[in-house]
Amino acid sequence: MGLPFIGETMEFFNAHRRNQLFEVFVHPRILKHGNIFKTRIMGSPTVVVNGAEANKFLLSNEFKLVKSSWPSSSVQLMGSDSIMEKDGERHRFLRGVIGTSLGYAGLELLVPKLCNSVKLHLATKWKGQEEISLYRSTKVLSFSIVFECLLGIKVEPGMLDIFEKVLEGVFSPAVMLPGSKFWRAKKARVEIEKMLVKVVKEKRREMEGSLQREQDGMLLSKLVYGMIQGEISEKEVIDNVVLLVFAAHDTTSFAVAMTFKMLAQHPDCYGKLLQEHVAIISNKRWDENVTLEDIKKMKYTWQVARESMRLFPPIFGSFRKAITDIEYEGFIIPRGWKVLWTTYGTHYNEDYFKDPMSFNPGRFEEGIPQYAFVPFGGGPRVCAGYQLAKLNILIFVHYVVTQYEWFLLHPDEPIAMDPLPFPSLGMPIRISPKSTSNETTTK
Ligand code: HEM
Repeated sequence: MGLPFIGETMEFFNAHRRNQLFEVFVHPRILKHGNIFKTRIMGSPTVVVNGAEANKFLLSNEFKLVKSSWPSSSVQLMGSDSIMEKDGERHRFLRGVIGTSLGYAGLELLVPKLCNSVKLHLATKWKGQEEISLYRSTKVLSFSIVFECLLGIKVEPGMLDIFEKVLEGVFSPAVMLPGSKFWRAKKARVEIEKMLVKVVKEKRREMEGSLQREQDGMLLSKLVYGMIQGEISEKEVIDNVVLLVFAAHDTTSFAVAMTFKMLAQHPDCYGKLLQEHVAIISNKRWDENVTLEDIKKMKYTWQVARESMRLFPPIFGSFRKAITDIEYEGFIIPRGWKVLWTTYGTHYNEDYFKDPMSFNPGRFEEGIPQYAFVPFGGGPRVCAGYQLAKLNILIFVHYVVTQYEWFLLHPDEPIAMDPLPFPSLGMPIRISPKSTSNETTTK
């Protein structure tokens, strides 16, 4: 478990910073001790578990044996009333409210909104450009998708910058030293709160003055409706808005960036993917949106995106805390210890994925063992935004590949971590519009 108190914190963070957490920290310990080993990170004794069985055991026993355990900086910046801090009944209730917009039932509403957002983004940010940062572009887009398509809040100039300042402090030490990342993030959080309190109050006034309270179907309206009914507090609304932005932002952008990176490196896969999208637009007017039915046809594209997330998971894993002594595989995990489940532990394991380091989207044709492919986690805390992330990725890929020729300017661009992975140069790409021969085609 390393040195007293600090344990193996330095080894853990050094490996993490270099984006080599699996190769340098986890894998050597798996070879030495097996899939389950103990260490000490940030003062806490921690058991690291790897493998589909362990993921299933841990993730499906949320609230019974473990509860999620975020660093103090994350809790302070996301807010103590966000869904990630809720347990049991309260967690179920909030997930229910959020789920009505983010789940399968909300998709019909989301698809046209996302199409319009992506088209507007390409028309205003890509048109006339020769070179753009793909990663930056997807961040701007996913931010406006969460605010405008999901929540129903208009993005004002400067908002993205303030939110990004908060996100930068989410995993930094919770020390209020003037000038530190955490200090800057806390200041930004105060600004966000002020802005959101105003938005929430306005929405409440508007809804109280109208008879059809949930008329726009947007998530903010649903949350504020809960406030009016006395079921949700104002702080819960604000903390969950901040959390949703945090949960969606770097994750979706990285997944999109890695999908494009893989397409650039595997022209045969790109050719196959392109055929899927050309077939979809072949009987559409040039300005017609894709529909939920079209999205269901993007089967190969979703395989490509999942295979990219398998090799480059946006989230390494996450921490839990044992709320009781846990017996697992002959070991006792004492109450109060932390437990870390990992995505790499299964994604890179050939017991689940043959030739695991090769890019092979076709492997998703066959069934994948439960809890082996876990970029979105699992159990009661499985990603609440899975469907939105999927739509965001597929619709963005659709419009880019049908409207633009593109290539990576730095095919070997390294991945950096801060604290989540990102392409270190922002993934610059060269773009040129495709000929618009089908602009005059009618259905
Ligand atoms: C590719 C994109 C995404 C990835 C890889 C991802 C991954 C994850 C993972 C691994 C978890 C579980 C964390 C844990 O077990 O502690 C999670 C939870 C969550 N995600 Fe996502 N996510 C993505 C996009 C989104 C989006 C777009 C939203 C919503 C706008 C979202 C909302 C949430 C929420 C609310 C939770 C917490 C659920 C709970 O505690 O019950 N995510 N996500």
